[in-house]
Amino acid sequence: MSQPAPPRVIAIDGPAGAGKSSVSAALAARLGFTRLDTGALYRAIGLAALRAGVRAEEGEALRALLADLRVELDGAEVLLDGVAEGDALRRPEVSAAASDFARLPSVRAKLLDLQRAIGAAQACVVDGRDIGTVVFPDAPLKIYLTASARARAERRLLELAAKGMAQPLDEVQREIEARDAQDASRPIAPLRRAEDAVLVDATALGLEEVVARCCGLARGVFGG
Ligand code: DC
Repeated sequence: MSQPAPPRVIAIDGPAGAGKSSVSAALAARLGFTRLDTGALYRAIGLAALRAGVRAEEGEALRALLADLRVELDGAEVLLDGVAEGDALRRPEVSAAASDFARLPSVRAKLLDLQRAIGAAQACVVDGRDIGTVVFPDAPLKIYLTASARARAERRLLELAAKGMAQPLDEVQREIEARDAQDASRPIAPLRRAEDAVLVDATALGLEEVVARCCGLARGVFGG
């Protein structure tokens, strides 16, 4: 019997603020691939839990929340119970909640099938923490995008400021380092570079240089 074809997926993993979102969006547009921002799925659950006052631990309240919650994609936009939440998903307290809830097996299980179904149906650029290690271990191209903690904090500061969410740089850096430590140390699907992922360090590179490098890698694998 023949093996199923590997998904037409580019897996982009890495720590917070490395530029995965901007790079993935630009790369998907250039290649004509769909973009799947898996962080937004975890953020949607974090936001719903904050609103419902549910705590980040396995239990009846979380079970009920997850059973009722609809998380879907409309193009590249994540819908929470049919509503596009936009910038509400980017708030710092939602980032922290996303990381807290992402530790829980029931939360990861709810999102795993959704991610795999999307990746099986079309060519995709998928960014997250465990895409190359757990969600699509057979992805033909895996990239681990990183940068120094300072460079990542500076990038995140600009993103937040553009959305009217100003914060001191040191505080932004502390928050992303705390989130990375939690994401990398959890027992299930921790943030980790897959052995066969290409390392791209964006500390000294501009967005266009990173996108060009990733695009070159993609053309090497998918042609075009
Ligand atoms: O990529 P992001 O910053 O939007 O992700 C928010 C949080 O969601 C991140 O701190 C950890 C979690 N996450 C995850 O555990 N696995 C993924 N594939 C994507 C995100």
